[in-house]
Amino acid sequence: MTKERKTLHIKTFGCQMNVYDSERMVDVLAPIGFELNADAHDADLIVLNTCHIREKAAEKVYSELGRLRQIKDARARDGKETLIAVAGCVAQAEGAEIVARSGIVDLVIGPQSYQRLPQLLEEQAKTRKPVVETEFPAEGKFEQLPKNRARGRAPTAFLTIQEGCDKFCTFCVVPYTRGAEFSRPVGQVEAEAQALVGSGVKELTLLGQNVNAYHGEGPDGEVWSLARLLGHLARIDGLERLRYTTSHPRDMDVGLIAAHRDIEELMPYLHLPFQSGSDRILKAMNRKHTAGDYVELVAKIREGRPDMALSTDVIVGFPGESDADFEATLALVNEIGFAQAYSFKYSSRPGTPAALAEDQVPDAVKSERLQRLQALIERQKSSFNAGFMNVTMPILLERKGRKPGQLVGRSPYLQPVHAMGDEDLIGTIAPVEINGIGANSLDGDILRLAQSLPGRDQRI
Ligand code: 5AD
Ligand code: SF4
Repeated sequence: MTKERKTLHIKTFGCQMNVYDSERMVDVLAPIGFELNADAHDADLIVLNTCHIREKAAEKVYSELGRLRQIKDARARDGKETLIAVAGCVAQAEGAEIVARSGIVDLVIGPQSYQRLPQLLEEQAKTRKPVVETEFPAEGKFEQLPKNRARGRAPTAFLTIQEGCDKFCTFCVVPYTRGAEFSRPVGQVEAEAQALVGSGVKELTLLGQNVNAYHGEGPDGEVWSLARLLGHLARIDGLERLRYTTSHPRDMDVGLIAAHRDIEELMPYLHLPFQSGSDRILKAMNRKHTAGDYVELVAKIREGRPDMALSTDVIVGFPGESDADFEATLALVNEIGFAQAYSFKYSSRPGTPAALAEDQVPDAVKSERLQRLQALIERQKSSFNAGFMNVTMPILLERKGRKPGQLVGRSPYLQPVHAMGDEDLIGTIAPVEINGIGANSLDGDILRLAQSLPGRDQRI
């Protein structure tokens, strides 16, 4: 690969781990001359970073490839070459199939191989044939990726600390596409966190498909838990906020629950999927927890942190789900009270045990259940947000809003907050008095910084 300047366009689908991976792909490609470009029409290399979690997500790749074919053809008429790469979980799951089905893909690369992008592009340039790389290489991807670069003035960043999953929920492709659970060593995570904070990051979200199963090697040779890692990172000078996602209820140990009580930088928001409120379905899902376990766990978490905002993932229409099972899901949502939640119709994924179940639920039933569940979640979200009227909260101001003079930030509870203010405030945490409650965000006034910043007990 020559070092001439080239343009790169990346389109990211799916979860935050893909967002992180896309950023790292930019870092890998920068040294060989690629510059990020917002417009696919003007890109020498287009990467689709894909998601395989549900059928709809996977199908998006093929409709997107149809659109890219036109771009590739139009650019070819102007004498320009366009390389098309498919990365992420669809790449991992379907491999060479993508090349055959689309006819326009030059590179297929699984999530464990991004450090090899330059070599693979070189190989493609030499052979002029599509290259497919879906191995789980023995050598670590993280050791070989270049440093995570500072990105403009964004005061928030993702940091992947754990990948893969050993839980094998019977509906889920992740253990197959992302492989076995792996934790990055503490030293590596700390160095990346330090560098990000050094470049102005105030809030870090630690990522992993099963992040609270984290068990990385510490500098003392011991295995560190997520709780211990959080306590350690919280001491980084200049790091104001910590979050982590996604968690499994079974891995919420005593230490992590205590961390929510004790670590001030750890924000009072937790995404904790329960998937179903029916014990029968939870068993069929291989979740290894009951609805009762979940209720107990949330009670313990709220004991230490009464204002904890909870979020969750729920699946409706898992094979064999009866009306009574679905009612149990609604009952659990009612019992917990969520700040927000993501809900999905069960989607049969090839290769997973649940895909083979005979008692699949008709789509119309799934749709009706999803609608009822989403209406309940919306009501809970509205009531959660309504509780903040006239409350003053510390808001991390992240970027300019759509309206002139408007800034957008996040509350400790992850609510987007709009407020008018000077651009210079971006990257600071300011006290904002909430004076408007929207469907998906709050409005507020930035108070003068001389006025006291409320403590964490403001809402209790
Ligand atoms: N069908 C529907 N939803 C699924 N999820 C994972 N696999 C499936 C599937 N086959 C949901 C789960 C998970 C979230 C990321 O996606 O709720 O927590
Ligand atoms: Fe998938 Fe999460 Fe279950 Fe792992 S714990 S199999 S990532 S749903």
